[in-house]
Amino acid sequence: MAEKRPPGLAGGLTEYGDREFAQYLRRSFASAMGHTPQSLGKPVVGVLNTWSELNNCHRGLRELAEAVKRGVWQAGGLPLEFPVISLGEIFLSPTSMFLRNLMALDVEAMLRAQPLDAVVLMGGCDKTLPALLMGAASADVPAIVLAAGPMLTGSHEGERIGACTDCRRFWAAWRRGDLERATIDDIEGQLAPTAGTCGVMGTASTMACLSEAMGMMLPGGAAIPAVHADRLRHGERSGIQAVVLAHKRLKPSQIMTEAAFDNALRVLQAIGGSTNAVIHLTAIAGRLGIKLELDRLDAMADSTPVLVGLKPSGAAYMEDFHRAGGLPVVLQALRGQLHGECLTVTGATLGGQLAKPFVWPAWQDVIRPPHDPLQEQGALIALHGSLAPDGSVLKRSAASPMLLQSEARAVVFSSLNDLAARIDDPALDARPDDCLLLQNAGPLGGPGMPEAGYLPIPRKLTGQRDMLRISDARMSGTAFGTIVLHVAPEAALGGPLGLARSGDRVRLDAQRRRLDLLVDERELLRRGEEARPQPPVASRGYERLYRESVQQAQLGVDFDFLRHESLQSG
Ligand code: FES
Repeated sequence: MAEKRPPGLAGGLTEYGDREFAQYLRRSFASAMGHTPQSLGKPVVGVLNTWSELNNCHRGLRELAEAVKRGVWQAGGLPLEFPVISLGEIFLSPTSMFLRNLMALDVEAMLRAQPLDAVVLMGGCDKTLPALLMGAASADVPAIVLAAGPMLTGSHEGERIGACTDCRRFWAAWRRGDLERATIDDIEGQLAPTAGTCGVMGTASTMACLSEAMGMMLPGGAAIPAVHADRLRHGERSGIQAVVLAHKRLKPSQIMTEAAFDNALRVLQAIGGSTNAVIHLTAIAGRLGIKLELDRLDAMADSTPVLVGLKPSGAAYMEDFHRAGGLPVVLQALRGQLHGECLTVTGATLGGQLAKPFVWPAWQDVIRPPHDPLQEQGALIALHGSLAPDGSVLKRSAASPMLLQSEARAVVFSSLNDLAARIDDPALDARPDDCLLLQNAGPLGGPGMPEAGYLPIPRKLTGQRDMLRISDARMSGTAFGTIVLHVAPEAALGGPLGLARSGDRVRLDAQRRRLDLLVDERELLRRGEEARPQPPVASRGYERLYRESVQQAQLGVDFDFLRHESLQSG
């Protein structure tokens, strides 16, 4: 139990063995920031800003932070902005996921150490909202999420395009030889034309929607484009509400309850959200002592329709979703299936929010009503079987229906390097009806579980648009195809995926939620004896901490010692 501390700058004093001296010194040094004693006596709202010149998605956060501060001042608080690590998805090696837990550690440590009565968590790019929520859940300081907002679309020859489903579609066309060099170059300049996060239902948009669904964000905040004035107004309101949270001492643990995670899983299904969200939600829940098992996600799959037609499941972009009313409309559509008793950062319950007068926006078709869904059944399913004893995930809504019940010969790649070396080799023994298996790209094998699960179609199979692909890696939420991910245990830990060999048969039975390697058990035992994989080790630094502590996909890829004490033994 954390020690109760006085509010404002009088709280969380630096240790000198003399509390009065510590207070005296703090007042003196706080005055150096130019604030009057009147300002310094107000509740302190931290404005946690992940702006960075190595994170294009967060380009708008400086201006947004000013809007937040306006709100905090208006409501009688003292806004103090501070940085933590920022993770720009495209600028990190080997992958941002490798660093998510480092950012979460940074967030938790700074929220615990600084004298904050509440905090506005500003982030957006894929791993940043998860890391902010993980850290805030552990520190349990009153917190409100403020997303950077999605970017607007660009244009190519009259067609609207945007990051990053279109990135993959055009790159696949270029690989097939369907595009000229000049065309792919022109497209490059149009895919990410403004500040903000990827404009489709990728991981960033999904995590923003789930933050709102869990009650950690003010209503309507997930979809407002980064460059829209509505985003600044939303920022200002978030600042005002942070002061309310500071007074009420309403904490993340009171908002992100087991029922709130169920709401998030339900919404994840309905928006056709990213598979990555399953890992992130599991990690956030784990910080609060809540076990989020794959079966829970799966139980909602058949009873939740896909309602939002954004890429990659549909054709629209986040800017369309915002115009259509955004997540509040989805929540209204799912109202009967959500836990209305959950508290939100508004101080009211979700049910109370949804009870307000509401008119369905019939003029739009981006968000479909439950009686006319985009797809009758939810987007994500969990698969178990001899190839994935601890589970795996498939985005059914972005898959080719005919491959959902299929059996195929495996073409196995033993690592990312092996994949890069052979995928375009004309001598590769691959046929259109094969499946591609990638090993050693999981949490340890990657390391960091890179978004390599969207294996490219071999160049020799020109014209082939989809193949069954299986790995222990992750996939960008913006990608599409029949792709089984997060296979656990991973190959580097001796999971059956690592025992598969080219020529083996694999069966996917999405209806029965099975993923099986059709190889005799004795033969697998023999291969296991022969292989005995040794997960790589690191001698120092963050990589050593990562390798010694990271857990498998079904536990959220969090570090074992960062999960809630009640879950650390299991
Ligand atoms: Fe930041 Fe896609 S690269 S959200």
